[in-house]
Amino acid sequence: MDETRARSDAILVGARTVRRDNPRLIVHSPERQDRRAASGLTRSPWKVTVTATGDLDPHAAFFTEGDTTKLVYCPRSEASRIRGRLGGAATVVALGDVVTMAELLCDLADRGVRRLMVEGGGTMLTQFLAADLVDELDLAVAPFFVGDRRAPRFVADAVFPWTSERRATLAEVRSIGDVVLMRYALSDRFAAEPDAPPVDDAPHAGAADRS
Ligand SMILES: NC(=O)c1ccc[n+]([C@@H]2O[C@H](COP(=O)([O-])OP(=O)(O)OC[C@H]3O[C@@H](n4cnc5c(N)ncnc54)[C@H](OP(=O)(O)O)[C@@H]3O)[C@@H](O)[C@H]2O)c1
Repeated sequence: MDETRARSDAILVGARTVRRDNPRLIVHSPERQDRRAASGLTRSPWKVTVTATGDLDPHAAFFTEGDTTKLVYCPRSEASRIRGRLGGAATVVALGDVVTMAELLCDLADRGVRRLMVEGGGTMLTQFLAADLVDELDLAVAPFFVGDRRAPRFVADAVFPWTSERRATLAEVRSIGDVVLMRYALSDRFAAEPDAPPVDDAPHAGAADRS
């Protein structure tokens, strides 16, 4: 997870994840941070969220942690209200009557973002996947059960491009401790990357640690 973050230009989560989890969304490993800095990048990727309500706390870790650019996308009609609420904590970007993921990606590309990591939640994943905008899907399976039907799902109701007739391409299976990582190629832009340079991963190995 940390390596994937370190290789991204920006990380996106939905506003509900910002509210519920208060994630920091930074690269944890100092070595990976150094590697980014040596390449002239910010030590952690840009942070991106999407909201219509603007119900975001400017003191949340999303805004206060990490010396990097923070972008908040919202419908045009809500932009001035949300700018007032967030002050200088982030750049608020107004995008149409409703925010579509295609327009959001175009705007990010205009700002120089080439590789966006969408961390969740399900509402965001559903929109990117259903719109066929995803090049790579990384799924990690951990060896325990969540016996609660109210637990968040990976995706919500939608029509997805991948069906039993059009299957996604399994590109890699890797075990990481007791977790299995599966990487799927979802577009021709998927690029199987060489292994990352060795990094002392010990303090950052928890796959569930996404703070
Ligand atoms: N396991 C993991 O790795 C992981 C990662 C991330 C999140 N999660 C979990 O996912 C759960 C949250 O997922 P979720 O699906 O409920 O919420 P979410 O995807 O985090 O955020 C949904 C919110 O994003 C905003 N939004 C989404 N699409 C929008 C659009 N097109 N235009 C404007 N705003 C838009 C809305 O915010 P407003 O309500 O402000 O308008 C919406 O309520 C949390 O429990 C979190 O723990 C898990």
